[in-house]
Amino acid sequence: MTGPLVLGIETSCDETGVGLVRGHELLADAVASSVEEHARFGGVVPEVASRAHLEAMVPTVGRALDAAGVRLADVDAIAVTAGPGLAGALLVGVSAAKAYAIATGKPLYGVNHLAAHVAVDQLEHGALPAPAVALLVSGGHSSLLLVPDVAAEVVPLGATIDDAAGEAFDKVARVLGLPFPGGPHIDRAAAAGDRDLIAFPRGKYRDGSYDFSFSGLKTAVARFVEAREAAGEPVPVADVAACFQEAVADVLTRKAVAACRAHGIEHLVIGGGVAANSRLRALAQERCAAAGLQLRVPRPGLCTDNGAMVAALGAELVARGAVASGLDFAADSSLPVTTVTAA
Ligand code: KG4
Ligand code: ZN
Repeated sequence: MTGPLVLGIETSCDETGVGLVRGHELLADAVASSVEEHARFGGVVPEVASRAHLEAMVPTVGRALDAAGVRLADVDAIAVTAGPGLAGALLVGVSAAKAYAIATGKPLYGVNHLAAHVAVDQLEHGALPAPAVALLVSGGHSSLLLVPDVAAEVVPLGATIDDAAGEAFDKVARVLGLPFPGGPHIDRAAAAGDRDLIAFPRGKYRDGSYDFSFSGLKTAVARFVEAREAAGEPVPVADVAACFQEAVADVLTRKAVAACRAHGIEHLVIGGGVAANSRLRALAQERCAAAGLQLRVPRPGLCTDNGAMVAALGAELVARGAVASGLDFAADSSLPVTTVTAA
């Protein structure tokens, strides 16, 4: 095994993630999720998430070290999500990481959550081709990024102007009476549905931009369901899920492929929780193949929030000799995507 051993800590939302990575090799990926505690509220409650991170942090670090068969003293550097994310949740991870850095005397890197979602692919498919285009779709963000260098330069091409893709999945699931978080439930329900039955709107489909809009789609689904209910007819949950999912996957993959073509880039990386979606993965594969593009999507477990992604980006920074963040940086809930490492 070669390369620096990096401990990564992720607490931007409701997952306490701790990963251990050596170079491009994943050694441990321990995740404690507070998702069940939020389910009855239909969304993540920031205070509840912060408290859960506090309780899970030390045990999760212990689990990761045990799984990797290493000791804290063996770690060469520590990386932590500095932002973007929920302020209180980020604060727990950043404070813990600073404490571990002081205790071990090892360098600390505060990193961007979005760049980490891209960098994690290196654990599965090896060194990232540069430049690449990245499509990041999660509960908090939907962005198309030009990535000349994941450790140093990330350029936004477009983003959602309203709901994030995952947020749309979660809201539509609620309308359909499916549990939170809705993405995986819609994915499963859609498997039994006909994706061509209902033509739901595709926001900003032909506007030539790389921006997304999902609020019109979400409203159209709600109207459809209300109309069925008002007429006393059963709601075809599987069909609605399949058609909604198709609309999202269609617009995401169309714009991602267009961005690759426009910038003459052959590699598309998809990351974030929604990248776990089976239809998005299949359609992206189909359209990339047709356009002569290479598609890279990490396995679903690495797409949702985890500590390994933070460790993966940290390992890349250490390998490049990047300057560490020191101990003075702050958690930044709106850290811009262009800032890969917090100063
Ligand atoms: O990246 P992530 O774990 O957390 C954020 O940074 O937001 O993404 C969570 C989001 C949720 O909205 C969830 O519903 C969605 O990812 N998601 C999915 C699937 N699995 C998770 N959406 C669609 N299909 C899935 N299979
Ligand atoms: Zn995320």
